[in-house]
Amino acid sequence: MRIISIANQKGGVAKTTTTINLGASLASMGRRVLLIDLDPQAHTTLGLSLEPDNLSKTILNVLEPHRSKNKLKLEEVIIKLKATGEDNLFLAPSNIDFASAEYKLIDQIGREDFLNVAISECEIPFDYVIIDCPPSLGILTVNALKACNEVIIPMQPHYFALRGIEEFIETTEIVRKNLNHPLKINILITIADLRSNLAKEVIEEIKHYFGNKLFKTMIRKNIALVEASSQGVPALYYDSKCHGAIDYYKLAEEVISFEKEEISARI
Ligand SMILES: Nc1ncnc2c1ncn2[C@@H]1O[C@H](COP(=O)(O)OP(=O)(O)O)[C@@H](O)[C@H]1O
Ligand SMILES: [Mg+2]
Repeated sequence: MRIISIANQKGGVAKTTTTINLGASLASMGRRVLLIDLDPQAHTTLGLSLEPDNLSKTILNVLEPHRSKNKLKLEEVIIKLKATGEDNLFLAPSNIDFASAEYKLIDQIGREDFLNVAISECEIPFDYVIIDCPPSLGILTVNALKACNEVIIPMQPHYFALRGIEEFIETTEIVRKNLNHPLKINILITIADLRSNLAKEVIEEIKHYFGNKLFKTMIRKNIALVEASSQGVPALYYDSKCHGAIDYYKLAEEVISFEKEEISARI
């Protein structure tokens, strides 16, 4: 099982868009995929046609302190997503009540490991778990980093983008040092206007800086991705020929191509 956190402390860099569209593309390629909405803003939940306020069971229940009467197992909050036509895409939803989770977790022993434990105890098998992180470096993001074995950091090719990313990578390094499994970090360029010379320059700088940590696939700026999320569906099911759908499909192929690497690394 590959567990991938989509994380960056900056908002608006396409974490949620990447979670939904990478997840849907992987599912369309036959993988069993669980999306975990770890953001109290619940954009992944909303972006998949679910009304967060109507949900009585969310990821909040999974992260409740051990003796809480509201605590549930991960499999008890998972919803099978029908909207996409696939039968292998699932969601552990969020809602705004979840904003209290950070506060509740703060004085709990083992608070950084709650998600990790919940995923490892989950009895439903998945090929991929993709975690959409909130735009902060708080306890929820640390839970995601401790639960995953890979991180995808989406970044827009803006001039100052590299500065914020350094701080974020330092945090993942600290978490990595406390782990006994390797944490693989990959950078994904998103919302890229490839016609702009400035964007091209920044992309060259990002390539130079990150080398092979950068995905070959870049996600172009594409309004259909915005439209699809407002319709509550992944772009693949909104307009399968739009740039957004094509780019995220290519990204899923690239992610899948690492499956072989992982197997050969284990042999
Ligand atoms: N490739 C893209 N082209 C155009 N707009 C995009 C693209 N990716 C994301 N967006 C839009 O940018 C905004 C921020 O994206 P979102 O995925 O919510 O970011 P985050 O989760 O990092 O805050 C949303 O309105 C989303 O629809
Ligand atoms: Mg988001």
